[in-house]
Amino acid sequence: MIVKSFEGGYDKNFSYLIWCNKTNIASLIDPSVDIAAIIDAIKKYKLEFKSIFITHSHHDHLSYLKDFIDIYPKINIYINYKTEFQHSLVSYVKNNQKITIGNEQITCISTPGHFYDSMCFWNEKHNILFTGDTVFVGRTGRVVSHKSNIEDLYHSVYDIILKLPLETIIYPGHNYGNKDKISIKENKQISNFFNAQNFKDFEKTMKNFEKNRKKS
Ligand SMILES: [Fe+2]
Repeated sequence: MIVKSFEGGYDKNFSYLIWCNKTNIASLIDPSVDIAAIIDAIKKYKLEFKSIFITHSHHDHLSYLKDFIDIYPKINIYINYKTEFQHSLVSYVKNNQKITIGNEQITCISTPGHFYDSMCFWNEKHNILFTGDTVFVGRTGRVVSHKSNIEDLYHSVYDIILKLPLETIIYPGHNYGNKDKISIKENKQISNFFNAQNFKDFEKTMKNFEKNRKKS
């Protein structure tokens, strides 16, 4: 699977154009960045653009969805079945559901916490995980929306994501770290967000982060 990243949008958002290099069937993770450069890439690599995966329904991750639908009116949109987001093109996906992109496969993993409908999208074959705002380079997502839940986030990070192979590369929803992507192994080495002894410890790390954030 090929991954090409695009940065822009509301706040250093990342959109990822992904495709199967045998069939050229392509998909996008989060329509969060102006579409011009993405459309250029679809044309340049002669891709058959078929679907869009949405990591969660925060507005910045959906900003450019309408622009894609205008050009690709039959596109499939994949989002967590728990979402309140509605559109006639949506296919609601469940935890562990597998979606094929040509010869490649994406496993949808429900990871609530940052938002109630958060999902990560995993290409197991190439150790690639699109984490949206659940995990960034150096920290987890925040839990400040009214439908965020810190206990859910702890469970999603510690019982699901950190149990994936350590060599898994995280492709986050925003460019908030000192590099654009990172392995789970390295993220554990550089950040105490991923070294909590238990839930209370994790909660303390999150609270400290919010406190220091307000000062700056
Ligand atoms: Fe978000």
